[in-house]
Amino acid sequence: MTQATGRILRMSYLAASVAGAGFFVLSVAWLGVWPARQLAEQARLTGPATPPVLTESEARGRAIYAREGCAYCHTQQIRATNPDVARFGATTMAWETRADIPHLMGTRRIGPDLSRVSETRPEDWQLTHLYAPRSVVPLSVMPAYPYLFDGGPDAPTQAARDLVAYLETLGRARRLAAPEGDETLNVHPAKTRRSGAVPELSVDSDAALGAELYADHCAACHGREGAGDGPGAAGLRPRPANLMLHQYRPGRLGEALWNGVAGTSMPAWRDRSIAELSAIAAHVQRLAVPGMPPRPFGADTVSPTAEERELGSRVYAANCAQCHGVQGAGDGSAASQLAIVPTNFQSQKPMFDEALRVLRNGIDGTPMAPWTSRLNESELTAVAHYVREFFAQ
Ligand code: HEC
Ligand code: HEC
Ligand code: HEC
Repeated sequence: MTQATGRILRMSYLAASVAGAGFFVLSVAWLGVWPARQLAEQARLTGPATPPVLTESEARGRAIYAREGCAYCHTQQIRATNPDVARFGATTMAWETRADIPHLMGTRRIGPDLSRVSETRPEDWQLTHLYAPRSVVPLSVMPAYPYLFDGGPDAPTQAARDLVAYLETLGRARRLAAPEGDETLNVHPAKTRRSGAVPELSVDSDAALGAELYADHCAACHGREGAGDGPGAAGLRPRPANLMLHQYRPGRLGEALWNGVAGTSMPAWRDRSIAELSAIAAHVQRLAVPGMPPRPFGADTVSPTAEERELGSRVYAANCAQCHGVQGAGDGSAASQLAIVPTNFQSQKPMFDEALRVLRNGIDGTPMAPWTSRLNESELTAVAHYVREFFAQ
């Protein structure tokens, strides 16, 4: 080996070491430092200056969510794919998970994504669902968490309250910061809406399908026969409606199924096809066909006397019209202020006994109060008759 080749070899070791170190530094900068800066910059530009911080209760709830392993079955990241966005709402942005340390994004969806679950379900539903998921969603595989309660869904421990408080933060920061508006953000099919264009349900529907869907999805709350006494009913305020004691116009059923009943645990069923919804609606109507024994329709055949009608009209105008509307359409002057929409008597008709029961007891969990201290017996009877007359018009 000459002296020259020896020098070249020694130089090449040096060159290789310098190049190696150089590539190392370059790759750390390119694959590590630069993307982190990009992401931080993007989060700074798109996110709010001060994202809302969790309250103490919400932070405790987050720890319980992590401890109970909710993230094993629920993601908190909405991907930029059409099915994800259609089902759960707008795609998750980097800034939304910036403060989520250690993150609870999850990797597996056995249950639905929860990124935007806040304001989708009321607290009574959340608590009942945590206590016993299958009491409100019969086909659910979610485990029950009864040890977060003192014996029943209406006796939550502080831990259960904290957990629900945390669930109510999911999607909140985006909603507060969002330019998109609520509808795009929370397109959850079960989210209740006060109004919304309701598709026309078809009249000739599949009876067997209706009965099956009702048993699978509605009986848990409304009861097998429709009496409002399913296993999930106990913890819900207001309680599920007694479908046996009402007549509904098809439009009313379409509205209740398509929009849910805002302010209550009655979900919307927008992920169902029109054929399925029609079959369910037809089944609900069959739950209350007058004359079918042993349905409690006896009292319905009693008509009010002329005096009762006159008294009912006066009592109604003085006490009820501001909520239920002059024509009974549920559109009184106070209606828009109320969390739960007053009944539209033109599209649904309670049995006489049911109307009287409501007037005596009110409906717990709604603005409908008991009237026994303000109206006497004959006034109660007269106005119970009176509200049923709007249906015929
Ligand atoms: C074994 C998997 C599993 C675990 C663990 C689990 N869930 Fe679920 N969860 C589900 C499934 C499946 C559903 C859909 C059916 C239903 O609503 O029950 C669901 C539904 C939900 C819903 C309703 C979401 C919606 O979009 O309507 C909420 C809220 C929820 N889970 C919260 C929790 C919380 C909080 C925990 C932890 C305490 C938890 N889940 C643990 C499987 C799971
Ligand atoms: C989680 C429990 C729950 C489930 C599941 C549920 N409902 Fe309801 N439903 C309710 C509650 C609560 C109300 C509101 C009662 C009120 O406004 O006082 C309600 C209201 C209704 C109403 C309006 C009735 C009225 O008198 O105002 C109809 C119709 C109805 N539900 C039908 C159904 C059908 C059909 C299904 C199945 C596809 C279903 N519900 C599933 C809880 C439930
Ligand atoms: C503060 C507003 C308000 C006033 C005043 C009011 N209601 Fe109501 N009422 C409601 C609301 C809200 C509901 C529906 C709650 C629900 O969805 O369960 C309701 C429900 C009812 C129901 C049950 C309907 C059904 O289909 O089950 C009857 C009957 C009724 N009201 C009669 C009356 C009568 C009669 C008066 C006057 C004496 C009256 N209400 C006054 C708000 C009001």
